[in-house]
Amino acid sequence: MGSINWKIYFILISLCIMISSASASAIYYPDERSSIESGKKIYLSNCAGCHGEKGDGSTSPFNFTSSEKMIKSNSSVFFDSITNGISGSAMPSFSRLPKKDRWDVIAYLWTFWIDRQSAEKGKMVFGKNCAGCHGIKGDGLPGAFDFTNLSQMAVKQPSIFFDRLTQGVSGTAMRSWKSDLTENERWDAVKYVFTFQFSDYELTAPIPAPTRPQSPGKEWHNTTGGVAIIFVSAGLAIFILYLFIRGLKER
Ligand code: HEC
Ligand code: HEC
Repeated sequence: MGSINWKIYFILISLCIMISSASASAIYYPDERSSIESGKKIYLSNCAGCHGEKGDGSTSPFNFTSSEKMIKSNSSVFFDSITNGISGSAMPSFSRLPKKDRWDVIAYLWTFWIDRQSAEKGKMVFGKNCAGCHGIKGDGLPGAFDFTNLSQMAVKQPSIFFDRLTQGVSGTAMRSWKSDLTENERWDAVKYVFTFQFSDYELTAPIPAPTRPQSPGKEWHNTTGGVAIIFVSAGLAIFILYLFIRGLKER
């Protein structure tokens, strides 16, 4: 009896693993940074008829200028929809377009939400507060997130970035910016860091220098070496105190 039960459990667990791995959706990301200029041309000739020249969707229910929709989206999901179409809706498959073109058009879709004015402001916020760790070009010092890492960026939705910026990332040097930056400044920064994925997103203002040099490393007392130093010094101090008291008593 016992061995039969064991076999049934084994089969059930294997089934669960098979089902969950089959339903996990694939992650798509581009091989190189995407071009907005090229994406704009592809958009105007293939997509604007349904989605509108301004992206606000003349006949499509998906509005690319809507913050509510865009902050919950990611490029990998967009790529899936553009490549395979959306069944049960008018959104057709564009698998006939070269892969590079599908990625360029996605870069252009993001610019309907990332308005230039916010990106310019975000650039200021980033230069002053973030570039010290994340790098002027967004590629990050060791340990800080790399905004030019295309495979990671493809699955990031802006709302995740906003939450991490607001709450910090525990266990890392990334702290909460809630009390230093207004809600708008945090959104401007999120919009700006999204542009590091694109090859030709140019802004006019020069990036300001960081206000103080920063390093993504942990504070010394939070490292293993630091903790060891604290323990050894405390032990030594107690030992010296002990010798001192013993010396007093022996007098
Ligand atoms: C024939 C009309 C039509 C054309 C042409 C079209 N779309 Fe769509 N698209 C739609 C409709 C309708 C939806 C909404 C589908 C839904 O949410 O049910 C949609 C939704 C989308 C979405 C959102 C999918 C998601 O993840 O929820 C993306 C991204 C998209 N389209 C990109 C494009 C791009 C890029 C092009 C051009 C290469 C394009 N579409 C051309 C009709 C169209
Ligand atoms: C002291 C160094 C430091 C500063 C300053 C800093 N960051 Fe970070 N940031 C980090 C580290 C370290 C991480 C965690 C690394 C990771 O998530 O891979 C991180 C993570 C993030 C993430 C989350 C990425 C993810 O995993 O989804 C975002 C978004 C971010 N930083 C944006 C900012 C912005 C915007 C600023 C400026 C307002 C800023 N950071 C300032 C070090 C820093």
